[in-house]
Amino acid sequence: MTDQAPAPYAGPERVLSGVQPTGDLHLGNYLGALVKFGRLQHEIETFIFVADMHAITEWQDPAKLKSQVREIAAAYLATGLDPKVATIFAQSAVPEHAELAWVFNCVARLGWLDRMTQFKDKAGKHKERSSVGLYTYPVLQAADILVYKATKVPVGEDQRQHLELTRDIAQKFNHDFDAPNFFPLPDALTQGPGARVMSLRDGSAKMSKSDPSDQSRINLTDDADAIAQKVRKARTDPDPLPETVEGLEGRAEAKNLVAIYAALAGRTEAQVLGEFAGQGFGAFKPKLADLAVSVLGPIGGEMRRLLADPAEIDRILGAGAEKARALAAPTVAEVRKLVGFWAG
Ligand code: TYM
Repeated sequence: MTDQAPAPYAGPERVLSGVQPTGDLHLGNYLGALVKFGRLQHEIETFIFVADMHAITEWQDPAKLKSQVREIAAAYLATGLDPKVATIFAQSAVPEHAELAWVFNCVARLGWLDRMTQFKDKAGKHKERSSVGLYTYPVLQAADILVYKATKVPVGEDQRQHLELTRDIAQKFNHDFDAPNFFPLPDALTQGPGARVMSLRDGSAKMSKSDPSDQSRINLTDDADAIAQKVRKARTDPDPLPETVEGLEGRAEAKNLVAIYAALAGRTEAQVLGEFAGQGFGAFKPKLADLAVSVLGPIGGEMRRLLADPAEIDRILGAGAEKARALAAPTVAEVRKLVGFWAG
């Protein structure tokens, strides 16, 4: 992939992001993505969707997919997204994502997709048995972003490569169809200590929905006891906390817990160490557990309350889809003309 100079894109700033409805949301999703959505909505026009078309790149039970979508929507609302401010919708309600993805399939190069590490991780040893959709997944992700001409994409560190691909696709499209700055080259927003939350059982593995051990992650729906127990049992080392962030090098588990504390408290890792330097995990873990319970406890409760009224969630998603389509449809109409389609 090529490095590009920043494009003088003249359109408005716009935020877009999404989460797949493929399992319980965890602390990594919250700190890497969700917590930023609620903040950004007050600064920039914000579109947040549930990626149900991405979800089916791996088998999903059709009888459950709708309720999985509602759960993610409930998590958005419970973590502070306001449907009067942000546009919240389900990807499958806006067919323009899929249409633009087809055009982008013809713009992206096989060599670009061959480099995507997330496909390699997910396909594992069974590449030939993976769906074609799993392979072209990042192309659909580029369409999700660019169909709204979004310029800012709040995500965790693991999505950075997909954002680079999105920029490459935007740049090649603009060039191939002689449409300078038609699409912006969007930036990934990955700042902060929560950008890469690691497993509680293994400081070298990402906290993930697909980890077979539930002890490896804190779910947004865990109750206070479960949260406290998982923090208590989190893997650590016997040394006290150091005075500086550099002192955490080579101590992956310690670094992770300090980063989680910092992200939950809205502080830097240096500030956290300023308070806890010299203390062992026997003292630090109960403080972290209390903090996690105080932040996450109300979210789980609010999600349960919202999910008791699925019709209201559907109403919000329906209204969001209308707003999203009103923006996506003109982009696709312009793309049809640029590409020269008969139906353009
Ligand atoms: P998904 O559903 O895997 O994850 C949702 C968001 O959570 C972030 N995340 C993490 N952040 C920090 N630490 C972790 N351990 C951690 N695990 C997950 C992810 O980076 C993500 O921001 N491909 C996307 C969904 C998507 C999308 C998009 C995102 C589809 N189209 C367009 C942005 C824009 C995904 O699978 O996220």
